[in-house]
Order: sequence, then structure tokens, then C-alpha cells
Amino acid sequence: MGSSPRSHIYRLLFVLLAVAIGFLGVRYLAIPESWDSQKSYRLNTLDELKELPMRIGGNEGCASSACHEDYVAESHQQRFELVADSQHRGLVCENCHGPVWDHAQDGEVVGYPREIKENEACMACHQSLLSRPEAFPQFRADSVAHAYYEVDATFACKDCHDPHDPKLLAVPPPEDEASASDEGDADDGIATAASEVQE
Ligand code: HEC
Ligand code: HEC
Ligand code: HEC
Repeated sequence: MGSSPRSHIYRLLFVLLAVAIGFLGVRYLAIPESWDSQKSYRLNTLDELKELPMRIGGNEGCASSACHEDYVAESHQQRFELVADSQHRGLVCENCHGPVWDHAQDGEVVGYPREIKENEACMACHQSLLSRPEAFPQFRADSVAHAYYEVDATFACKDCHDPHDPKLLAVPPPEDEASASDEGDADDGIATAASEVQE
């Protein structure tokens, strides 16, 4: 009984069958249970994400009196109102002060919020970059106001701009300053702030 003239085809079919079964087996083992091939992700990632700790609390959370003693709550509330009404209203406290997660977890204080001493906090957004939209206010040492006060990047931005409402200035805009000194009327306290800054 010689081998069938089609045995090479049977062998090939056998190999293909083995590959197909192997593929289906691996696929079965590799595809996660909740995989949705329409959406191309595991549906239970949604639940897993919900279980991650909430690292960012949002501005209301920072201003809430639920956490703070009266006087601290007041200082937060005051900043909250300033920010909400300012050009910085799109920012969250945590842009500058770091995630609330690093400050409090489950009602326990775990650290002090980030203190900002350096200009980097401002320059992260306001450094003048070609890639930034031109209309976005970028720090320029040669703008009218900064040139007037001879500000360069070694000045502390927060000495003039209130970080919670950057239009609140410790110095008057140059036009006011110029006209105030023309009239010899520098007794409004603001000019004093200006000269302190320039010292
Ligand atoms: C653009 C950055 C920025 C944002 C946004 C910001 N802060 Fe501040 N914050 C600062 C800086 C800078 C200081 C330090 C000011 C100084 O030293 O004069 C400060 C100081 C404070 C202080 C005083 C801390 C102390 O020890 O005296 C409180 C309270 C505060 N911020 C709360 C908030 C709250 C609440 C929000 C959100 C509603 C917020 N800040 C948003 C930059 C920011
Ligand atoms: C997370 C980004 C971010 C950070 C950090 C930030 N700013 Fe701003 N700033 C903005 C946005 C957004 C505006 C509003 C821009 C607009 O109105 O087009 C703004 C507006 C301003 C303006 C008003 C500019 C104008 O049009 O007259 C000043 C001044 C300013 N910021 C200063 C600061 C200073 C000082 C700091 C640091 C204490 C700081 N900013 C930190 C995003 C930021
Ligand atoms: C000596 C005070 C002073 C210092 C320090 C200072 N600024 Fe200003 N800045 C001003 C004044 C005044 C204006 C004009 C505000 C106005 O006309 O409403 C201004 C305007 C701005 C503007 C609006 C665009 C422009 O240039 O007119 C931006 C953005 C700004 N400052 C960012 C910064 C940043 C970032 C720093 C820190 C590197 C900084 N400033 C440091 C006084 C200061």
C-alpha cells in the first residue's frame, strides 16, 4: 500500500489546521475578558480608572471650609474669589500649588502645598515662545510696562503681579505712574510700592 498521491496536500492541510487552531487558542487566551472589539478597549478599564485616587481636587475643593480652620478657609476663599474673577480664571490652584493629593489624603494632611518662590511657575505658561499663539500674553522685557520698570527675568513676577489676579498690580501701569509724578502726586502709596520694587 503505497502512500496516496495527495498525501502532500493532506500534510499541508494538517499544518494549516494546526496553525489556525493555535491562532484561535492564543487569541482566546490573549484577549481580555471585557474586550470590546467595536470600541477597541477593555470595558472594565472604566471601573479601574474610577478606583484610582483623585489627585486633583479643583478650585471649589481648595476653597471649601470643610477642611480648613476658619482663618485658613478665609485665605483660601479669598484667593478663590480673586482667581474666579481674573484672567487666571481658567487655571486651577493646583497648576501652581501642586495636586491636592500631595497636601491631603482622606482628610489627613500629608504635606504643605507647593510654595512658589521662583518665576518658573509663571514662565511655564508665559515664557515667550515661537510656538505660542501670538495673542497669548507672553513675558517680554521690552513691552511698554516692563521696559518702563526695567523688568527682566530676574525680577520676581509676584512682586508686581498678584498671582491670583495678575491685573492686580503692586505698581501702577506706566502712564498712570508718569502722570502721577508730573503732578507731583505720588502719595497714593502705589508709587512707594514701585520704588521698593526697583530698589
Ligand atoms: C498662577 C499661579 C497661582 C495660582 C493659579 C494660584 N496661586 Fe495661590 N499663590 C501663588 C503664589 C506665587 C503665592 C505666593 C505669593 C507671595 O509669596 O506673595 C500664592 C500664595 C497663596 C496663599 C498664601 C499662602 C501663604 O503661605 O501665605 C494661599 C492661601 C493661596 N495661594 C491659595 C490659592 C488658592 C485657593 C488658589 C485657587 C483658587 C490659588 N492659590 C491659585 C500662585 C498661585
Ligand atoms: C497654567 C498657565 C498659567 C500660569 C502658570 C500662569 N498664567 Fe498668567 N495667564 C494664563 C492665562 C490663560 C491668562 C489669560 C490669557 C488671555 O486672557 O488670553 C493669563 C494672563 C496673565 C496676565 C494678564 C496679561 C494681559 O493680558 O494683560 C498676566 C500679567 C499674567 N497672566 C501673569 C502671570 C504671573 C505673574 C504668573 C505666575 C505667578 C502666571 N501668570 C502664571 C495662564 C497662566
Ligand atoms: C516691576 C513690576 C513688574 C514685574 C516685576 C513684572 N511685571 Fe509684568 N507687568 C507689569 C506692568 C505694570 C504691566 C502692565 C499691566 C497693564 O497695563 O495692565 C505688566 C504686564 C505684563 C503682561 C502683559 C503683557 C505686557 O507685557 O504688557 C504679562 C504677560 C506680564 N506682565 C508677565 C510678567 C511675568 C511673567 C513677570 C515675571 C518674569 C512679570 N510680568 C514681572 C509690571 C511688572
